[in-house]
Amino acid sequence: MTKLDQIRAAEAKLLLSTYERNPILFVSGEGVHIVDESGTKYLDLLSGIGVNALGYNHPVIQEAILHQSLALIHTSNLFYHEGQAELALRLTERTGMDRVFFANTGTEAWEGAMKLARAYAGLKRGEGVNIGTKFLALEQSFHGRTFGSVSTTYKAKYREPFGPVVPGVEFVRFNDVVDLRAKFSTEVCAILVEAIQGEGGVRPLTQEFFAEARALTQSTGALLIVDEIQSGMGRTGKWCAYQHYGIQPDVTTLAKPLAGGIPLGAILCTEEVSRAIHAGMHGTTFGGGPLACAVAIAVIDYIEKENLLAQAAAVGDYFQQQLHNLAARHSAIVDVRGMGLMVAAELDSADLAKLTVAEMLKRRILINCTSDTVLRFLPPYILERAHVDTAIAALDEIFTEHAGAVSTANAAGEKNHV
Ligand SMILES: Cc1ncc(COP(=O)(O)O)c(C=O)c1O
Repeated sequence: MTKLDQIRAAEAKLLLSTYERNPILFVSGEGVHIVDESGTKYLDLLSGIGVNALGYNHPVIQEAILHQSLALIHTSNLFYHEGQAELALRLTERTGMDRVFFANTGTEAWEGAMKLARAYAGLKRGEGVNIGTKFLALEQSFHGRTFGSVSTTYKAKYREPFGPVVPGVEFVRFNDVVDLRAKFSTEVCAILVEAIQGEGGVRPLTQEFFAEARALTQSTGALLIVDEIQSGMGRTGKWCAYQHYGIQPDVTTLAKPLAGGIPLGAILCTEEVSRAIHAGMHGTTFGGGPLACAVAIAVIDYIEKENLLAQAAAVGDYFQQQLHNLAARHSAIVDVRGMGLMVAAELDSADLAKLTVAEMLKRRILINCTSDTVLRFLPPYILERAHVDTAIAALDEIFTEHAGAVSTANAAGEKNHV
C-alpha cells in the first residue's frame, strides 16, 4: 500500500465525506509549482483556489511566519497587538474604505457583512428612514457555506439540504437591470454582488448593472456590498475588481489571498456604515491574529514592491489573448473571459470540460472546472508568459485529440471546487 493509499483509506473512514479529492499527495512546492510525494512537479494554475498569490515557499512569507512565530502567534481580541492597525491602514488606503473587521475565512467575512447590513438598516430605521431587512443576491452567486452565506448562494444543492436557511433573500437574474429594478424596494437593506462571479463561471458584472445597483441603493439608504473574496487583493490587476468600474461600494469582503495561504478574512466598510457596530455586537477569537496580520502585511508590501498588480494585468491579458487564439482553432471553446489572472474558457460541453481538467492533470497542470462547462484559471500572481504558453500548448493538444469525440450532453457532475 502506498502512503497515498493509506491516507485515502484513513480519510475514507475518519472524515466527513465532503470532498471528492484528486488522488495526489502533495508534499511541497516552489514558485508556481507544487510537488507530489514522488517528486513530480505540477504547474499550479489554481493556487489553492485563488489563495497562494505568491506561489509556494515564498521567502517573504516564510520570513514573516518565522519572525512572527518567534514573537507572538495569538493574543485574542481582548488585547492589542501590532498588526491589525498596520494592516487595516494598508487595506483602507488601497480599497477606498474607512474601517476594517478581521475574520478568518471568506464565509465568515461575508456572514459579518450581512450582519452589518441588517444592523445598519436597524440604525437607519431608528433615525426615521423607511428601510427593510431583505437582501437581493444574484443568480449564480457564491458567497460561502455558513448559514447567512449559503442563504445568499444561488445553487439549490448548496442550500436545500440545510433548510430552512436565513429568510429574506431574493435572487435577481445576473446582469438583468430590469429584474433588479423590479425586485428592489425600500424593503431591501442591501444588494449583494461579486464584481466578477467566481464559482458562477468567471462572469463580470456589466457596467450598467453595477451602476444601477449603486444608484438604487443610494436612493433608499440600502447598502451595496461587493464580495471580493475571490477577485480581490490584486488578482484582477487592481486591489479590488470594483475599481475597474469606478464604483465604490459601502462594504466589501476579502479573504483567500489576503495572507498568502494563512487563513484571514476581512470586512471593510465606510465610516457611515461603521456607526451600526458597537463593542460586543460582533467578534471572533482568532480573526486578525498577529501571525495572519504579519503575513498579510508582508504579502501586500511584496505585491507593491514587485509591481505584481501590473504583472497580473499583463500576464492575464496575454493568457486571455492566447485562449482567444486557441478558440479560433477549436470551436469547442465558446467564450473566453476574465480580468487579470481570473481567467476562464467556456467549452461547449460539460463532458469535455471534465475530461480537459483530467487531461491537464495527466500533463501535470492544475486547473478546475466550474459551472459545468467553464475551465477556470486562478494562478499565482507570479505567473509568467512562459507558464501560460505551457498551459496553452497542453490545451491545444487536448482539444486536438478530444474535442468533437466527446458528447456535448451537459451531463457531467460537479466537484467541490470553490
Ligand atoms: C466569492 C466568494 N465568496 C465567498 C467564498 C467563501 O470563502 P471561504 O471558502 O474562505 O469560506 C468564496 C470561496 O470560494 C468565494 O469565491
